[in-house]
Amino acid sequence: MGRHKITVVGAGNVGAAAAQYCAENELGDVVLLDVVEGVGRGKALDLTEAAPIRGHDSRLTGARGYDATAASDIVVITAGVPRKPGMSRDDLLRTNHAIVRSVTEQVARHSPDSVLIVVSNPLDAMVQTAFRASGFPKSRVVGMAGVLDSARFRAFIAMELDVSVENVHAFVMGGHGDTMVPVPRYSTVAGVPITELLTADAIDRLVKRTRAGGAEIVDLLGTSAWYAPGAAIAEMVRAILLDKRQILPCAAYLEGEYGISGLYVGVPAKLGRDGVEEIVQVALTLDERAALHRSAAAVRELVDIIGV
Ligand code: NAI
Ligand code: 2OP
Repeated sequence: MGRHKITVVGAGNVGAAAAQYCAENELGDVVLLDVVEGVGRGKALDLTEAAPIRGHDSRLTGARGYDATAASDIVVITAGVPRKPGMSRDDLLRTNHAIVRSVTEQVARHSPDSVLIVVSNPLDAMVQTAFRASGFPKSRVVGMAGVLDSARFRAFIAMELDVSVENVHAFVMGGHGDTMVPVPRYSTVAGVPITELLTADAIDRLVKRTRAGGAEIVDLLGTSAWYAPGAAIAEMVRAILLDKRQILPCAAYLEGEYGISGLYVGVPAKLGRDGVEEIVQVALTLDERAALHRSAAAVRELVDIIGV
């Protein structure tokens, strides 16, 4: 089998970081496309020149047009504008809706068999936009947010308990917004739920920091995060291209699972070569289920505004 082909649309902060992690892990050859002349080619060339030092043979190319992206296995969509200080993810809705719709239409024409990983915000509404605009089956359109949100929760738990991040698993559901639902009962350190290891107050503090994780970086940097988002994208690309059947929190299209229908929301999903191969349903308490439904309602509001 030849090399996999990964296209990243939007060669900004997140797109370039995703391209770097994918290339360094030799997940495939990477095409970086940006609407701004020179940006895709410039970043691809810079990363190519880093390859001898980083020790990989992934080929990186830049482009402004979609011909170069033809027959990609995976297309990551980060095109859009990021959040600025004081701006909520939802403020981005209308601008990014138009961008994601037009990008998806071109991607679907040039790579009709690809799996789409949508990253642009507001995430859940943008992945629903891409699903409708692509005409792809729901399994081949997935959103990245939960891997990032749970990585933040994992990092905060590891810092709190002074343990290796590798010991920590975390479980986050719902939309990628202020209503996201970290689930402490299913978040563990070496297999032990954090509810056995931390006080309720400490857990509450870490949950709040996770929910505000995106805004914390925006306040510090004046724009949104890219290293952790880029790493999260590469993790999903790897799970799909290596057919890992890895269970990761993703925005997936629900049709009755968790009592939600016709909507993209963050849930645990099994990722393999066909994209979302299964939505994993776990038992939730009444409170957890209510929080998930509140989060889904917030996503539904946005989806209704843009009519997707
Ligand atoms: P950025 O501004 O650094 O990069 C965006 C790039 O998209 C720019 O280079 C821009 O020229 C390009 N672009 C705009 N319209 C385009 C089009 N029609 N076709 C091709 N390229 C186009 O922004 P950044 O920080 O990389 O963020 C990208 C998006 O990802 C934002 O919407 C941001 O909110 C979102 N994001 C989502 C996360 C998640 O967890 N889902 C995490 C971090 C960011
Ligand atoms: C983040 O969570 C802004 O969605 C972006 O960092």
